[in-house]
Amino acid sequence: MTFANKRVFITGGSSGIGRAIACQLAREGAHVCVVARGQAAIDETVAQLESLAASPTQQLFGLSLDVGVPKDIAAVAKAATERLGGLDLLINNAGITHPASFMDTPDEVFDSIMRVNFFGTVHVTRALLPALIESRGQIGIVSSLAGVIGIYGYTAYGASKFALRGFAESLRHDLMQYGIDVTVAFPPDTDTPQLQQENRIKPAETHALAGKVKPLRAEFVASETLNGLRRRSVYVKPGFGTKLVMFLAQRFPGLSRWFLDADLRRFQRKQRAALAAGQANSEAKD
Ligand SMILES: NC(=O)c1ccc[n+]([C@@H]2O[C@H](COP(=O)([O-])OP(=O)(O)OC[C@H]3O[C@@H](n4cnc5c(N)ncnc54)[C@H](OP(=O)(O)O)[C@@H]3O)[C@@H](O)[C@H]2O)c1
Repeated sequence: MTFANKRVFITGGSSGIGRAIACQLAREGAHVCVVARGQAAIDETVAQLESLAASPTQQLFGLSLDVGVPKDIAAVAKAATERLGGLDLLINNAGITHPASFMDTPDEVFDSIMRVNFFGTVHVTRALLPALIESRGQIGIVSSLAGVIGIYGYTAYGASKFALRGFAESLRHDLMQYGIDVTVAFPPDTDTPQLQQENRIKPAETHALAGKVKPLRAEFVASETLNGLRRRSVYVKPGFGTKLVMFLAQRFPGLSRWFLDADLRRFQRKQRAALAAGQANSEAKD
C-alpha cells in the first residue's frame, strides 16, 4: 500500500519525527497538512515538502495551532479538511518533555505535558473523527518507549505517554465499528531537536540510564511508523532494541525492572562515593 493521494493531517509536523513523516508522505504523493505552533518552521517544512512532492497537484500546506488550546482546534480541523477535501490519516505526533526528578517537577510541568501530549491528542482526534469516519480512515499516535517502561526523570512525560497507549488501545476497540484502525508508535531516543533540548536538562540519573543507547534517526522512526500504518499494525516498535525492551517488559517485567534498578543503584552508589571523596579531599585541605 502507498500513501499516494491519501489526505493526511500531522500534528507536530514541523520538526523531528513529524517532519520526517511528512517528507516521506510528500515523496509518496500524499496530500499533507502539517500543524505546529511556530509559523517559521511550518513555512520551512512546507517549502521542503514542495521540493520533495511526487506531483505538482499535491496539496501541501501548514496551519498554526497549539494542540493544548482546545477552543482553537475545531477551526483548524475545518480549514484543513476543507482544503484536503476530507481526511484519510491523522497522525497525533506533537509532544513536549521536561525530564526532571519528581521533586523537581512542579505541577505546572505536569499540567502542560498532559495538556499537549495527552489532551492535545484527545481533542484533535475528536475534532477530526467525523472526517475519518466518512473515509474509514486511520489514526496514528506517537507515544514513546517511556510509555512502556517507567524511567527515572519521566514522571510527567512517562505518565502522558502511558496515557496515550491506554487511549490508543481503547480507541482502537471503540472505532472498529467504523472501520478505523489505530496504530501507536513507541520510539526510543531519536535524534531530533526535542532530544537535543532534553539532553541539556536531563538529570544525571536519566543520562546514565539512557546515555548508553545510540539514538535512532528521525527518518528511520518515520519509515517504521509509516510501515506500521501501512500494515495497519496496532504497535510500532522502531528498531531491534525497542522490540527487545518491549518483549522483556511485557513477558518478564520483574526481570526488566531488576536490570534497570541495578543500573540506577550502581550509578547512585558511584555518585555518593564521588561526593564522599570530594568532601574528604576538602576536609584534608582545611
Ligand atoms: N525524540 C525522541 O527521542 C522521542 C522519543 C520518543 C517519543 N518521541 C515523541 O515523538 C514526538 C515528536 O518528537 P520530536 O522528538 O520529533 O520533537 P521535536 O523535534 O521537538 O518536534 C515536536 C513538534 O511538535 C510541535 N509541537 C510542540 N508542542 C506543540 C503544541 N502545543 N501544539 C502543536 N504543536 C506542537 C513542534 O512545533 P512547535 O514547537 O512550533 O509547536 C514540533 O513540530 C513527540 O510526541 C515526542 O514525545 C520523541
